[in-house]
Amino acid sequence: MTRIVYVNGDYLPEGEAKVSVFDRGFLMADGVYEVTSVLGGKLVDFPGHIVRLHRSLRELDMAAPCSDDDLLAMHRELVTRNGLDEGMIYLQVTRGNPGDRSFLFPSSDVKPTLVAFTQAIPQLADAPAAKTGFKVISVPDIRWGRRDIKTVQLLYPSMAKMMAKKAGVDDSWMLDDDGFVNEGTSNNAYIIKGNRIITRQLTNDILHGITRAAVLRYAAEAQFEVEERPFTVAEVQAADEAFASAATIFVMPVVEMDGKAIGTGKPGPVVTRLREIYIEEMKKAAL
Ligand code: PDD
Repeated sequence: MTRIVYVNGDYLPEGEAKVSVFDRGFLMADGVYEVTSVLGGKLVDFPGHIVRLHRSLRELDMAAPCSDDDLLAMHRELVTRNGLDEGMIYLQVTRGNPGDRSFLFPSSDVKPTLVAFTQAIPQLADAPAAKTGFKVISVPDIRWGRRDIKTVQLLYPSMAKMMAKKAGVDDSWMLDDDGFVNEGTSNNAYIIKGNRIITRQLTNDILHGITRAAVLRYAAEAQFEVEERPFTVAEVQAADEAFASAATIFVMPVVEMDGKAIGTGKPGPVVTRLREIYIEEMKKAAL
């Protein structure tokens, strides 16, 4: 089956889905994106992703491409047309095509570019990796200072993912200049110590994860203590459990950092429970 992709109002076979070489997303990485997961053909936490999309657009002084109702209808249409059961929808908005290359932003009559596509992830909920856990290494975080905006400038996260691959592990956790963990290449990072879940506070240093917000809400409801502060690699290695969260992995146990096992070196009871709660609740609320 040919994948059907959305481009500026049209649903096209992927081979015909194209944007201009002058698009600022292509020339300047001048664009933002969202990844919404799909479970049972339904959208997980779509309202959260829309709120963050508007925040990213606002921070970059970029116009919204269409109404929220149109975005929801388009996501649903992509799910239907591609028969998507489990996976994700990738959405990207760029500042559009001014017809030339220039460092100046184009005038407001240049329309934003909006593209979106589906990607199937067959075992998203029942992920084999969740049974064994991720291994991670630490790398310096050399990204720009506005990591709270979900831009398409993903070169360094991509390089950091390659460093992890080269080291024979699953991901890299990026450290600030003082040795504290910011986040993973495409996920937020947490440690668990006793009844306490510790994760970095929301600033411009990290992406404000939509999964993170839900996980912390459910954790508090399940009587865990939540502490938002930076933590070091040594704290990760001395933690009872650790995990990462993102739309594409939900809650993923992390069992090793820089070659040292965390806790028993296997997914622990707290993270296993949090993953169950998250998936259960999100399936109920998906739309
Ligand atoms: N990435 N931190 C970074 C740097 C991310 O890129 C992501 C998501 C997250 C988690 O955010 P959320 O819970 O809203 O997915 C944290 C997406 C999944 C991606 O780039 O594929």
